[in-house]
Amino acid sequence: MTCLLVIEASPRFEHSASRLLTAQFVEKWTRRHPKASVINRDLARSNLQFVDLPWIGAAFTPPDLHSPEVAANLAVSNKLIEELKAADHIVIGTPMYNFSIPAILKAYIDQVVRVGVTVSTTYEGLLKGKQATVILTTGGDFSPGAPFASANVASSYLKQILGFIGITDVNIVLAVKTLAVDQGETTLADFAKRLDAELAAAAA
Ligand SMILES: Cc1cc2nc3c(=O)[nH]c(=O)nc-3n(C[C@H](O)[C@H](O)[C@H](O)COP(=O)(O)O)c2cc1C
Repeated sequence: MTCLLVIEASPRFEHSASRLLTAQFVEKWTRRHPKASVINRDLARSNLQFVDLPWIGAAFTPPDLHSPEVAANLAVSNKLIEELKAADHIVIGTPMYNFSIPAILKAYIDQVVRVGVTVSTTYEGLLKGKQATVILTTGGDFSPGAPFASANVASSYLKQILGFIGITDVNIVLAVKTLAVDQGETTLADFAKRLDAELAAAAA
């Protein structure tokens, strides 16, 4: 069965532009794939841990040498990777934080990029044949040609890391200038309306 994995990172919940746009993408995508399953991975509601010494020890020890205690350190990572493997399409809704991505999304990436599991020992990405859509909201203007466009590390990093694990078909929906919503110049609903056609194309 076709499967969509929805990864969200904003802690602003009902005030979040990336969450609203992601919900609209999911609505459009599921309309096109009515029999599909959807997995929700809400990082802002998780208490995802940073990788630590026991995690690193386990991840870099061959699985056949794992004691149950060592293997337990990778249980969360294994679950997250299982979700990625199950997905045909992955949508990541995230804000830009300090030109990059929120720490919780980086923590997720550190959990799922694993040599021998999602990337081979010769650095070939192992999650092939998947599509990804990144919905990236930014307070400022990072549209092509804008003075700060090249400071948008979030887009290039997400493309790079998804490609590293084999997901090379990545479409970035860049939703710039959410500051206008926060400053009351427009509503969240009107802001989202402007992205409707782009979201529809991404979900097609
Ligand atoms: C900690 C933090 C860092 C931010 N850094 C940036 C930034 O570097 N560039 C930018 O344009 N907006 C920045 N913003 C604004 C957010 O990207 C913007 O408000 C976005 O819409 C948040 O997404 P959300 O509405 O889904 O929560 C930052 C916001 C926060 C809270």
